Amino acid sequence: MAKEPVRVLVTGAAGQIGYALVPMIARGVMLGPDQPVILHMLDIPPAAEALNGVKMELVDAAFPLLKGVVATTDVVEACTGVSIAVMVGGFPRKEGMERKDVMSKNVAIYKSQASALESYAAANCKVLVVANPANTNALILKEFAPSISEKNITCLTRLDHNRALGQVSERLNVPVSDVKNVIIWGNHSSTQYPDVNHATVKTPAGEKPVRELVANDEWLHGEFITTVQQRGAAIIKARKLSSALSAASSACDHIRDWVLGTPEGTWVSMGVYFDGSYNVPAGLIYSFPVTCCNGVWTIVQGLPIDDLSRKKLDLTAEELTEEKALAYSCLS
Ligand code: NAD
Ligand code: LMR
Repeated sequence: MAKEPVRVLVTGAAGQIGYALVPMIARGVMLGPDQPVILHMLDIPPAAEALNGVKMELVDAAFPLLKGVVATTDVVEACTGVSIAVMVGGFPRKEGMERKDVMSKNVAIYKSQASALESYAAANCKVLVVANPANTNALILKEFAPSISEKNITCLTRLDHNRALGQVSERLNVPVSDVKNVIIWGNHSSTQYPDVNHATVKTPAGEKPVRELVANDEWLHGEFITTVQQRGAAIIKARKLSSALSAASSACDHIRDWVLGTPEGTWVSMGVYFDGSYNVPAGLIYSFPVTCCNGVWTIVQGLPIDDLSRKKLDLTAEELTEEKALAYSCLS
């Protein structure tokens, strides 16, 4: 029997990630090839005409799984009945703006959209925040939507995770699908810690540690980490625009694994609200290795953390603590 359609919200849908993301969702990349969807697309009034153009293209593409499109600038209409919310909309940093100015605009957006989601989304709606500062926007959304389970509010660090897989794959000249269990710890920013200490590669002789195969600590501790940390800036430099297709694809990976489960023996990185695991101060949205089953994520516990990693886990937590304080100062 055909499944009932799932309503999926994309905010900022007239923007560049939105334009890459909505066709992926309509093709079943996010929720599976047998899951019909109804797309809810939200943007702000100045982008209404462009948003309508995206809607026209979705109709023209005749996606078999797409059972309806709501394109709106009304946040209540956008949030009503959605089971998945991908929050891409936000205020970009413009020339001459201080960090605090951008934070204050985004915190205000995430505070008001939190209330709309809380009141109008389906019970148990799963939320993924993509817009930067992603971890802190997600934290604000959580704080102002207290009736949404904190387990259901996450932010995107899967792009960083996929970037780390990609770098290892290029270095070892192996298919990226044979590399697994890298970890992104912390913030979706240049303080994040891409960690390969537990990562492996599938070889004809079984799974081998990435560290053993790379056999070059200088690269692993240096260029590998900085390349992943700075990849967003490198894309902006090359494209004069920030990453969009990789961000959209990684957002689909994040939701797909969360809803449909991670493969046996594999973890992924997600920004989540947590309980003080790995001695990271609680009260932040921080990226951890997680496995997912039956729509629930669980932090992978008990991985040994060496001294070098400890410092990096703490550094990115400190930045998130500062961002949180800045966000709250913008609200007061
Ligand atoms: P974009 O500027 O092309 O699109 C953003 C869209 O959001 C615009 O259409 C804008 O009108 C809309 N918007 C602004 N305020 C809104 C509001 N209150 N409600 C709904 N929509 C609103 O930007 P983009 O390239 O699509 O990037 C979107 C965000 O994602 C940025 O914050 C970017 O930094 C971030 N990003 C995050 C990651 C990640 O891995 N977490 C990766 C890439 C980009
Ligand atoms: C990315 O990681 O590609 C983006 O977060 C970069 C940005 O600043 O938009």
